[in-house]
Amino acid sequence: MAPDDITQVVETHRQSFPNFFLSGLGPAFLGRYYRAVCTDPSGIALVGLDENGRVAGFAAGTANPRGFYARLLKKQWLAFAAASLPAVIRNPKIIGRLLGVLNHPGENPAGPEVAGLYSIGTAPQSQGRGLGGKLVAEFLQEARGRGCRRVFLTTDRDGNDGVNRFYQRNGFTIKRQFTTPQGRRMNEYWIDI
Ligand SMILES: CC(C)(COP(=O)(O)OP(=O)(O)OC[C@H]1O[C@@H](n2cnc3c(N)ncnc32)[C@H](O)[C@@H]1OP(=O)(O)O)[C@@H](O)C(=O)NCCC(=O)NCCS
Repeated sequence: MAPDDITQVVETHRQSFPNFFLSGLGPAFLGRYYRAVCTDPSGIALVGLDENGRVAGFAAGTANPRGFYARLLKKQWLAFAAASLPAVIRNPKIIGRLLGVLNHPGENPAGPEVAGLYSIGTAPQSQGRGLGGKLVAEFLQEARGRGCRRVFLTTDRDGNDGVNRFYQRNGFTIKRQFTTPQGRRMNEYWIDI
């Protein structure tokens, strides 16, 4: 993923995660988020292209999860604040949740050789054609190239059978289950690489 891809990545994110919290923060916030991941030295950010060379999928995370968002925020807090402003004005109640999301690496299971896969999506018209699997494989290879030996991710436990099957087919195993402050039951997956 390069800064020039961001507009298409944001479009793909909004298509693949239509009802998720981050999507609700709007394109400016998402653009800021993916730009920060792809320009951070520890960021791992990949795109998959369709036959016309357009972004059809993406995978984003970090080879250094502990304090990842705190590091991004420290550098760009004003830009993130400005990007989330329209959504906060629309619904001030989201501030607590937003701070929770940005703080979440405090809870990150991290270690010296751990990478985190934070976001992966493929455009609806490209799903089920192997692109997601390729993005996972590339992400793991990139993480290994950066010296990581294990990768984790989290996903919803309920009403999410396809995605859970997708991760299991790609070699991930559930190691922990937890419930978020919003009451979402989550699976935490790991894979050795
Ligand atoms: C999960 C996701 C990235 C998989 O990408 P993909 O390009 O469809 O992946 P692949 O083609 O390599 O694998 C397809 C497998 O994923 C699973 N899957 C999950 N959601 C699917 C969907 N909407 N369409 C097709 N397959 C889906 C199925 O198990 C399928 O396996 P099958 O062969 O048994 O049908 C993609 O479906 C997606 O973007 N979903 C919405 C966003 C999301 O939930 N991301 C993960 C959040 S943690």
